[in-house]
Amino acid sequence: MQTSESIHPDKNTEKGSKTQHGRQVGTVRQVLQRSGYLELLCDGVAIVLQFVHPQILRMRVTGSLVVANTSSTAAVALTSVVPVEATLFEDEGYLQWATDFLLVKIYKERFKLEVYDVEGKLIYSLESIVSFANGQTIAQVSKFSLEHFYGLGEKTGFLDKNGEKYNMWNSDVYAPHVPEIKALYVSIPYVLHTHQNGVYALFIDNPSESVFDLQSSSDTYQIQTAVGDFDAYCITGKTMKDVISNYTVLTGKIPLPPAWSLGYHQSRYSYMNQEEVVDLAKTFREKGIPCDAIHLDIHYMNEYRVFTFDNGRFPNPQGMVRTLGEQGFHIVPIVDPGVKRDPRYEIYREGIAEDHFCKYIEGNIFYGHVWPGESAFPDFSDDLTSAWWGEKHKFYTDIGIQGIWNDMNEPAVFNTTKTMDLEVIHRNQGQPKTHFEMHNLYGMLMTRATYEGMKTLLKDQRPFILTRAGYAGVQRYAAVWTGDNRSFWEHMEMSVPMLLNMGMSGLAFAGADVGGFAHDVTAELLVRWTQLGALLPFFRNHSALDTARQEPWQFGDKVESLCKSAIQLRYQWLPYLYTLFFEASQTGIPIIRPLVLEYPEDPNVTNLSDQFLLGKDILVAPIFRPSMYKRLVYLPKGRWVNYWSMEECEGEAYRVVDAPLEIMPIFIRKGAILPEHPVAQSVSFQNVETLSFAIYGVPLDQPYRYTLYEDDGVSYNHLQGGSNLFEVSLEPVSVNQARLSYRYLQYGYQVSYSSRVFKFKTLKTPERFVVRGMKRVEFAELAHSEQGYALNSSKNEVWVKLSADLSAAVLELEWGEG
Ligand code: GLC
Repeated sequence: MQTSESIHPDKNTEKGSKTQHGRQVGTVRQVLQRSGYLELLCDGVAIVLQFVHPQILRMRVTGSLVVANTSSTAAVALTSVVPVEATLFEDEGYLQWATDFLLVKIYKERFKLEVYDVEGKLIYSLESIVSFANGQTIAQVSKFSLEHFYGLGEKTGFLDKNGEKYNMWNSDVYAPHVPEIKALYVSIPYVLHTHQNGVYALFIDNPSESVFDLQSSSDTYQIQTAVGDFDAYCITGKTMKDVISNYTVLTGKIPLPPAWSLGYHQSRYSYMNQEEVVDLAKTFREKGIPCDAIHLDIHYMNEYRVFTFDNGRFPNPQGMVRTLGEQGFHIVPIVDPGVKRDPRYEIYREGIAEDHFCKYIEGNIFYGHVWPGESAFPDFSDDLTSAWWGEKHKFYTDIGIQGIWNDMNEPAVFNTTKTMDLEVIHRNQGQPKTHFEMHNLYGMLMTRATYEGMKTLLKDQRPFILTRAGYAGVQRYAAVWTGDNRSFWEHMEMSVPMLLNMGMSGLAFAGADVGGFAHDVTAELLVRWTQLGALLPFFRNHSALDTARQEPWQFGDKVESLCKSAIQLRYQWLPYLYTLFFEASQTGIPIIRPLVLEYPEDPNVTNLSDQFLLGKDILVAPIFRPSMYKRLVYLPKGRWVNYWSMEECEGEAYRVVDAPLEIMPIFIRKGAILPEHPVAQSVSFQNVETLSFAIYGVPLDQPYRYTLYEDDGVSYNHLQGGSNLFEVSLEPVSVNQARLSYRYLQYGYQVSYSSRVFKFKTLKTPERFVVRGMKRVEFAELAHSEQGYALNSSKNEVWVKLSADLSAAVLELEWGEG
C-alpha cells in the first residue's frame, strides 16, 4: 500500500531530477561545417547536426565541447550513415541547411530549430533547449493545430496521447495496467506527431529517465532527459507509415520469426513438473486445440538458478522436449538475469572468475534480491559478458529448446527502488556509465545477448525470444509481452491501444497475457480475451500462481469449444499473418494497425482505441464487457463484409453489430483476397495440403491485388532466395465478369501442397457462376478432382480448384442471376 509519502514534495530527488535553475541554449557563436555534419558552438554547449538518412535529422546537444565521438546507443541499427548532400546558407540571423527532402532553419540569436518539407510546410519546430547543472535537459517543441500524438511504446491510456504525461523508466510494477501508471517495463522515448502540416517523429536516444509531457501546455510539449546528451532524431516522411518505416530504418525491424512462434502459446506460473507439462500437451492434442508452445516458468529450475533444471520435478527434460517436439510443441523456458549468489553454483562461480557481474565503482559486486534470493547481475553492456551469457544457452539448445523467455530484465529487484542501485557502473565497452545513465538499456542488452547466443547455437534454425523489458530497437531481438496485467475486462480493453502504439513504435511482435495474469479469470472473459488474442501478433495465455486455472478447457465444454474456434481462426489465417510478419520485417509497418494508420484523413478514427486492423484487410472489433452481445463498430471508407454473416456494409458509418458469445465482430475489406491454411494442431508449412484464397464479396467492383509470402518457416534459406512471392489479382471486367490471375513474382521455396482453391464468398450464392474453360463438378467431387469448380451451397461459396504448379494462370469468371 502507498502512504502519503508518495506525494512528498521532494519525491523526485532520488534520481536527481529535482527542479533547478537551468540555462537556455542561447546564441549560436560559431558554425563549423565538418565533413557530413554541422557543429554549432553555443554558450556552454555544442550542438551537432547530421542527416543520418535523407529523411532523418540527428541533433545532439552535448555539454562537453568535444564532439568527435558521435556514437549512439545500442538502439540505433543504422550503422553506416547514408551520405546526404546538403547545402548550407548562412545569414546574420539564421542558417539554412537544405537537402532534397528537407530544409532546416536555425535561428542564431536565440537558438531555435525548424524543419520544413519540400513544399515549404513547417513540420517540426524545436522552440528551446534548457540545460541544467545536474545533467537534465528540457526541450520545448511546438504543438500545432489538428494534431495527434502516437507511439511512446508501452503505455497505458487511449490511442491518442495528446494531453498525457509519461515517464520512460523501465519498471517492474506489479499489476500495473492502470491509467495513472507513467512507466511500465519497456521505454521507447519516441513520439509520432501528426498535425495540420504533416507528420514527423522524435526519437530521443537517451536510456536514462526521460519525461514526455504532452499535458502541461497547449502551445508546446516538453521532453525532459535526466542526464546525458540530448540526442534527438527528427524522423520525417510523407505519411505516418513512412515515418514509422524510417524509424525502423534507424532502430531496426523485427527479424522474420520462426513460424511456430506465431501459433498459440500456453503458459502458467508455473507448470510445476514434467508430468503436468506432458499431460497439458496431451490434453491439447486430445481435444484438438491447436498449440505450438508451452512456457516453463521459474519452477522448472533448481531453486530458480538459471541454466538448471530441478531434476526432482523434471527428471528427463531432454526426453520431454523431444517427445513434445514430435507432437508439434516447442518448450520455452524463462531465463531471468539474476544469478543466485551461491559459491557452489557453476554459473555464479564462472561469472565471478571471469568478472561478468555489475559492480560499484569501488569494485564490489551489486547484489539484489530476486526469485533465487541474493543475486548478481551480468553486465550486458560488455560484449564479453554478453557472449558468455549467449553461449550458456547451449544448456537449452542441447536438449532441443529453440525459444527463450526473458523476464525481470528491467532489471527488477525486490527493494525499495525496485531496480539496480543507480550508481552501479556498467563497463559499456570501455566507456563506463552508471546504471542511472543506462537503466533503460539493460533489458534490451540482455535480450540481444540471448538472441545472438541462440542464433549461433541453433545454426540454421531461427530462435524465438520473448522479453518483458526493452528499449528502442529491442524489436531486432525479441517479441515483447506487456507484463503483469490482471484478469480485468478493463485490462483487456487497455491492451489494445497499448499494443497499437507499441506497433507504431517499432515493436511489431507484441501481445498481452491472454486471460490476464493476476486475479481470477471468468469463463466469459477467457472467451472474449482468447478471441482478441487470436488476432494479435503474439498470442499467449498466461496466469499467475494461485489464480484460477485458465487453459481453454477449464470452464466446461461450451467455453472450450469457443476458445478452440478462436484459436483455430488464427491457424486458418496463418499464411496471412506470416505474410504480415514478413512485411513488418521488411518495412517496419506494424502487423496490427490503428485505423488512423490506414485512414489518416478520417477524423473519426484519430483516437479510435477499441478497434484495429490486422494488416489492411481485416477489421477487428473485440468485445470488452461482460454480457455484451452487440457493439458499435466504425467502418472506414469503402465497403466491408461482415466475416460471420457475409453481409456487405458501406463504410464511413457506424453499425450496431451482433456479437453473441461465439462471435467477435470481424469485417473484411470487400474484394480482399485472404490466404488460408487448413487448421492444423501446430504450425508446419511442410505439411500443408491445400492452400486456399478466400475472396470476399461477389460481385466484385474494384480491382484487388494480394501478394502472399512463403518460405519454410524455420530456417534462414529465405535470405538466400528460398522464398516465394505469389501474386493474385482480381479485376472486374463488367458488372458480372471478372478476371482472376496469379503468378509467382519470385519462386525459391517448394511448397508442400499440390492444389490451390479460390473460394468466392457471398451473401447469396449467385444462381449462375461460370469459370470459362473449366469443368463444373458437384461439390463432393471437387475433393477428388485435380481441377474444376463447384458450388458449396451450404456456405454460399463457389470454389475453384487448380493444381499448384508453377505456371501463371488467368481465369475468366462470370456470374449472375438465372
Ligand atoms: C513476473 C512475470 C510473470 C512471471 C513471474 C514469475 O511477474 O511478469 O510473467 O510469471 O514473474 O516468473
